[in-house]
Amino acid sequence: MKMTRLLRKMLLLLFLGGTSVLSYGQQNEMIIITQQPLPYGYNELEPIISAETLILHYGKHLKSYIDNVNKIIKDDTEKYGTNLESIVKNSTGKLYNNAAQAWNHNFYFDTFSPKDKAQHKPSGNLAEAIDHQWGNFDRFKKSFAQVANDIFGSGWVWLVKKNNGSLEILGESNAGNILKDEDVTPLLGIDVWEHAYYIDYQNRRAEHINALWDIIDWKKVEERYNAALNNGK
Ligand SMILES: [Fe+2]
Repeated sequence: MKMTRLLRKMLLLLFLGGTSVLSYGQQNEMIIITQQPLPYGYNELEPIISAETLILHYGKHLKSYIDNVNKIIKDDTEKYGTNLESIVKNSTGKLYNNAAQAWNHNFYFDTFSPKDKAQHKPSGNLAEAIDHQWGNFDRFKKSFAQVANDIFGSGWVWLVKKNNGSLEILGESNAGNILKDEDVTPLLGIDVWEHAYYIDYQNRRAEHINALWDIIDWKKVEERYNAALNNGK
């Protein structure tokens, strides 16, 4: 059983490792949206998220969303704009679903750092805001996990800053994207689609969410929070 999994992982690494994303840009001239680089190596989040999961999630799922956006908008950039944020805000249906998923995943993948490099707790302004809202960081984590675990089926859980200064945890189904809500700034977004955890945790979503605290990099979350403050939001 272990050999089968190892062999499958090796084949995936050979097939995807460093080739599929790069070759996409060389073969398709209709690129409007490009896939941003993964900010860590495929195996650097192990054992919390395996290389096998990352290779499929980043190399197949995210790539597919971006490919679909490029196929659908083609010459309609005047209508939708040329970046994911404007496409999400101006689209509906299949284009919205793919653009929203692409934007969500870019945000999600840029949330983690390897365990030995991640800042494991918020500090400064954000730590104060979390303590003010939930009492302490552990109580925030419990509330966040509860929303994540309560989402029925596929979706996303978000920590957002509202323009009135308060923080809130929001659950969204499927490709739910919060960019359309001008009243909130996303700070942290976690994917609870099964493809994000099923290889490593099977149906144990709560265990997966609990493990993620070791690789969520609060330095990145804080940068988003402070940028919102500086922008008057
Ligand atoms: Fe995903």
